Amino acid sequence: MERRLAATFLLLLPLLSVDCVSNQKTTVSWCVLSDAEEQKCLDLAGNATARNVRGSLMCVRGLSTRDCMEKIKNGTADAASMFADDIYAAGLCHGLALAAGESHNGVDGISYYVVAMARRSSSDLSLLEMHERSSCHPGVRTTVGWTVPIGYLVNTSQISVGEQCNFPKVVGNFFGYSCVPGIKDPLHDPRGNNPKNLCEACIGDENDRHICANNHRERHYGEAGALRCVAENLGDVAFVKHTTVFDNSDGKNQESWALDLELDDLKLLCPDGTEAGLDEYLRCHLSDVPANGVVVRVEDKCRVWKYLERLQNVFGNATEGFSLFSSAGYGQSDLLFSDATHHLQRVLGSYTSWLGPSYTAILQAFECEGFC
Ligand SMILES: *[C@@H]1O[C@H](CO)[C@@H](O)[C@H](O)[C@H]1NC(C)=O
Ligand SMILES: *[C@@H]1O[C@H](CO)[C@@H](O)[C@H](O)[C@H]1NC(C)=O
Ligand SMILES: *[C@@H]1O[C@H](CO)[C@@H](O)[C@H](O)[C@H]1NC(C)=O
Ligand SMILES: *[C@@H]1O[C@H](CO)[C@@H](O)[C@H](O)[C@H]1NC(C)=O
Repeated sequence: MERRLAATFLLLLPLLSVDCVSNQKTTVSWCVLSDAEEQKCLDLAGNATARNVRGSLMCVRGLSTRDCMEKIKNGTADAASMFADDIYAAGLCHGLALAAGESHNGVDGISYYVVAMARRSSSDLSLLEMHERSSCHPGVRTTVGWTVPIGYLVNTSQISVGEQCNFPKVVGNFFGYSCVPGIKDPLHDPRGNNPKNLCEACIGDENDRHICANNHRERHYGEAGALRCVAENLGDVAFVKHTTVFDNSDGKNQESWALDLELDDLKLLCPDGTEAGLDEYLRCHLSDVPANGVVVRVEDKCRVWKYLERLQNVFGNATEGFSLFSSAGYGQSDLLFSDATHHLQRVLGSYTSWLGPSYTAILQAFECEGFC
């Protein structure tokens, strides 16, 4: 009897998901975070109505990403576009789901890979034995420079934060010296006791000021800065995107350190302790990082997807008039969706299926921080 019921239910499932029968609401309220985003949302709403796209769009102003999560949860809003770490918090802490995700390459939902880069001449270097080594990070609390490398160190049991969850202290004790721009900023170090050695591979500006600043005055700040830090021999390893080295070579960066960069002198360190060439990032990376997704209530997954599908059919490839994946003319980039979006793809599975096993494992390392 029970099995028959289950079989009947399974037969009905595809029908339910195609028709979204359980939900009659026709308006989608989008939670926006800035004037520019609100304006693009209003333009989309007007253009969708003008082109007779079934359903309607409303724009609701949120104070912050967390506020948008609360609003979606209590029904004040229906959807918002969020980046990977916020998708995790929305799913874990608020029980929210994903209706869609961005595809940037037209194939999958991966935005970029985080890789560990070293000088080829550093021959006795392994990602599994980074204790006392020196490291270069684009910035404190960034995905590339902090979340992924520190999550990896936890995942491989090289560090353990215990009950106290004091990541900076543990990371400072682990590495010899590092550059983590911003780690001593009051915002990230309210008690002023984050380890000093996490700034010792930083160099500041031309006049030795702004050392460890969380901005470009610190010349080792950002992904290019982290690469420079390794190229100049101050760090053994830099945590950067798979594209960073190519974005800063062949004259694309005119600073003298970049003009001197020899790609043959660099290599990737793989998470299993081996090494690889710079173009082997597909098999040799710390994590892939998923593109942004559209956060909704679980029961709204289908309805919001159907509306988005209609919107992108009309505005996704527009060569004139309103364009869904462009923010030109609004004075800011990546409004509603990343400008790099090729198309939106449906997310049928859970939010962790979108985040993928490696990025989910990375984020799990931070759960002790009182993620919710
Ligand atoms: C359509 O979008 C454009 C911007 O691309 C905007 O100027 C125009 O006002 C919008 N049309 C409507 C009816 O909202
Ligand atoms: C829904 O949540 C938002 C954000 O926390 C809050 O401002 C609003 O008052 C709530 N609305 C309702 C109806 O509970
Ligand atoms: C590390 O991550 C993998 C998935 O990439 C997971 O299977 C494993 O359990 C994680 N290990 C620890 C110690 O968290
Ligand atoms: C735009 O057109 C290309 C090529 O026909 C197609 O692959 C892509 O899916 C379209 N994008 C959207 C958002 O419809």
